[in-house]
Amino acid sequence: MVTNKPHLAGKRNTVGRPRLPTGILLAIGGWSGGNPTNGIEAYDVRADCWINITNNTERPRAYHGTAFLNGYVYCIGGFDRLEHFSNVRRFDPISGNWHEVAPMYYQRCYVSVTVLNGCIYAMGGYDGHMRLSTAEYYRPEINQWSLIAPMHEQRSDASCTSLNNKIYICGGFNGHDCLQTAEYYSPETNQWTMITPMNSRRSGIGVMAYAGHVYAVGGFDGNSRLSSAEAYNPDTNLWTNVASMITTRSNFGIEVVEDRLFVVGGFNGFTTSYAVECYDTTTNEWFMVCGIRIFRSALSCCVISGLPNMADYVVPRDTLPQLPALEEEEEEEQNEMESGDSLNE
Ligand SMILES: *[C@@H]1O[C@H](CO)[C@@H](O)[C@H](O)[C@H]1NC(C)=O
Ligand SMILES: *[C@@H]1O[C@H](CO)[C@@H](O)[C@H](O)[C@H]1NC(C)=O
Repeated sequence: MVTNKPHLAGKRNTVGRPRLPTGILLAIGGWSGGNPTNGIEAYDVRADCWINITNNTERPRAYHGTAFLNGYVYCIGGFDRLEHFSNVRRFDPISGNWHEVAPMYYQRCYVSVTVLNGCIYAMGGYDGHMRLSTAEYYRPEINQWSLIAPMHEQRSDASCTSLNNKIYICGGFNGHDCLQTAEYYSPETNQWTMITPMNSRRSGIGVMAYAGHVYAVGGFDGNSRLSSAEAYNPDTNLWTNVASMITTRSNFGIEVVEDRLFVVGGFNGFTTSYAVECYDTTTNEWFMVCGIRIFRSALSCCVISGLPNMADYVVPRDTLPQLPALEEEEEEEQNEMESGDSLNE
């Protein structure tokens, strides 16, 4: 079943307006209408609404990675058609200011980025000449990148996530083939270990830890854009197919907010996309939700939380229409009447 307002159910407060979400999903940069974009949108999950928070002083960036760490949003590597970036820009969501921090060792566009144990990891990518197997990590306390062991595969356009003190990276493109392989990094041993390959080749894939599994979603298999998704169980070393997305997509943003997995924008095989959908593991279903306003692929998503000014990134609660809640109340009233409960009161 497809509905467009799954997350309002049971989540409203006493006055019928959704509470502040615990996390705000940011969709940052990307490729839009044939150009790189500096567009940033914030998703208010409780209101199912995107807010444009673009800062036009920032240089556009696509095929980069983003990470939220210690209250800052980091934008890492990427490409703007002229340059493959090694640089890293840091956004302070409280003050709205941007700062440059230490650059990576390598220029990395199509880079994979995740956070583990208070550090940011950046893996693979493309430096303008070759697909990279190298990887490095950033320690914010000393503002420094350090190289770690290289991966077994050259991977550009892969995607990664951290789960149970490991970093999992899946798929990508090595310069010849879209990859089916996946591997994990253990920081204790500084070693990469291959795991069972995915069921599909996936470049421009989205990978995210969710419900104790590593989800591998969408991408390009060398022939077509995929809507399929699969989940890796680290205990069994097995991939299991899960419900397919409603739309095909590669090079999209992926994140978990409030126990749901969101996929944002991307390229659907014909055009860059506005479409956003979310997956709920409890029902194994995808739902279309409110689309982004800046259609784009090659964007990166992260979730910000714990800010004193969360209200700056959501729809003002007093301007939110009460309609969804009212509809729900009407439905409830009707159900009560139909079931005869109200007669007993
Ligand atoms: C988003 O905001 C920026 C900066 O104010 C503006 O230039 C841009 O046109 C906006 N885009 C959309 C789609 O509203
Ligand atoms: C945009 O970024 C600049 C540079 O960091 C900053 O000075 C400015 O306050 C930002 N503008 C907004 C509207 O956040």
